[in-house]
Amino acid sequence: MSSGGSYAVITGASRGLGKYFARALAARGQNLILVARSQDKLEQVAGALREQFGVSVKPLALDLARHSAGKELARQLATLDCNIELLVNNAGFGERGEFIKLPLDRQLEMIQLHDTTVVELTYELLPEMIKNRRGGIINVSSIAGLQPVPYAALYSASKSFLTNFSMALREELRPTQVKVVTVCPHDYALILKSHNPKSNDKRCPVANRLMKKS
Ligand SMILES: NC(=O)c1ccc[n+]([C@@H]2O[C@H](COP(=O)([O-])OP(=O)(O)OC[C@H]3O[C@@H](n4cnc5c(N)ncnc54)[C@H](OP(=O)(O)O)[C@@H]3O)[C@@H](O)[C@H]2O)c1
Repeated sequence: MSSGGSYAVITGASRGLGKYFARALAARGQNLILVARSQDKLEQVAGALREQFGVSVKPLALDLARHSAGKELARQLATLDCNIELLVNNAGFGERGEFIKLPLDRQLEMIQLHDTTVVELTYELLPEMIKNRRGGIINVSSIAGLQPVPYAALYSASKSFLTNFSMALREELRPTQVKVVTVCPHDYALILKSHNPKSNDKRCPVANRLMKKS
């Protein structure tokens, strides 16, 4: 075990759901390593959380849709001398449209980001968690991974892989004390709206319509 303190790694922490994870964990006193491509946004989030909650927050800019990105992130994490007790695999995006009309490379990025990078990172970080008999992994999948979704074929297929991988791993790891949680959100802006009626997230037209009616 390293001497550098206990950290949670959150991918896709520069905005959206990942930023909410970061805030919720920081509020519990958890030190964080935040990963996404946008260095400036990560610095902003990190600064705000340090100031508000007094935790250590390290931003780490990396494109996780690149070949071997999960291995590269694990390599960079190893140089930080931190105990990684929680891994939140949240980074993702949904390219929608006809499979044959969407750019192939962009669709392959979804497989890399949602699946290959998650598998690589999990494989690299798990041995230390298992050795310590302590730790957890949260995989942010999607309700779209529970069925085939036409016009989001690659998105739903990549999330389906993630859901199945994550749920199988949970069972394999039961004897080790390492926990795996699979999150399958629908439209989280709608959920936020139900907790904060003043929220006006433009990505959630259904919620906004419902609020206008109420
Ligand atoms: N929004 C929903 O209602 C919903 C529903 C079901 C599932 N989900 C899942 O929940 C997760 C978060 O969704 P969200 O709505 O919060 O998304 P979002 O607001 O678009 O944020 C995505 C995050 O992922 C990062 N990211 C994207 N591509 C990346 C890459 N190549 N390398 C590293 N980081 C990357 C982004 O940062 P940078 O751009 O700075 O890299 C950002 O921090 C995703 O896995 C998504 O599939 C969301």
